[in-house]
Amino acid sequence: MQIFGVDIGGSGIKGAPVDLDRGDLAQERCKVLTPHPATPDGVADGVKQVVDHFGWTGPVGLTFPGVVTGGATIRTAANVDSSWIDTDARALFGERLGGLPVTVVNDADAAGVAEMQFGAGKGRKGTVILLTFGTGIGSAVFIDGALVPNTELGHLELDGHEAEKRASSKVKDDRDLSWEQWARRVQKYLAHVEMLFSPELFVIGGGVSRKSHKFLPLIEGVRAEIVPAQLQNNAGIVGAAMRAAQSA
Ligand code: BGC
Repeated sequence: MQIFGVDIGGSGIKGAPVDLDRGDLAQERCKVLTPHPATPDGVADGVKQVVDHFGWTGPVGLTFPGVVTGGATIRTAANVDSSWIDTDARALFGERLGGLPVTVVNDADAAGVAEMQFGAGKGRKGTVILLTFGTGIGSAVFIDGALVPNTELGHLELDGHEAEKRASSKVKDDRDLSWEQWARRVQKYLAHVEMLFSPELFVIGGGVSRKSHKFLPLIEGVRAEIVPAQLQNNAGIVGAAMRAAQSA
């Protein structure tokens, strides 16, 4: 079975039909730039371009970088335009896509769902936490494979700051931190999350997970196993489609 997945990120809106049996894209994905400011209207136009590129007419799952309740309503917008807050994104995208059935899910939750089924978390029981390091820090918490949605662990306070303002990969780039300097911050953050949840496994996602060999070996003093995500760039697209399939 195929469902369309769209990943809405700070720089790009990426989408493709997803083969749900294989957990992979069924066709090469299409990407358009995220408009700035990333308002609901502008993003909906981008989503339409991506979906229309494939002439898709079935269900669509979309990710959003904020709290999303009921597969529909945006509740927070830390790194996108604040006009998203309380927007019924399911209605917005559904209308723009000519009435296609739409499900919206937090971006890290989508990536986590895909990793648990097809990637680094496959078959793992107990508490598993996926953390995505990008513009912000996203989190997806699983208990025996079941998602606890919208955990927002990137906003935990660490040394008097929001953790994502200290340890996201954007902070590494903006402050020109070395891998060693950044790994120390990530280590402190992981130790804090471990203190709260005692997970068996951390899965590290986001674009920077492609370079995990540069920083994961530097992380010490965390008891849980730490592994890089496996689906990398496509986890959000695949997970969004999986969530849409579950609610179809
Ligand atoms: C948002 C989360 C999101 C994460 C990664 C955070 O700022 O609050 O909802 O998952 O960034 O995009």
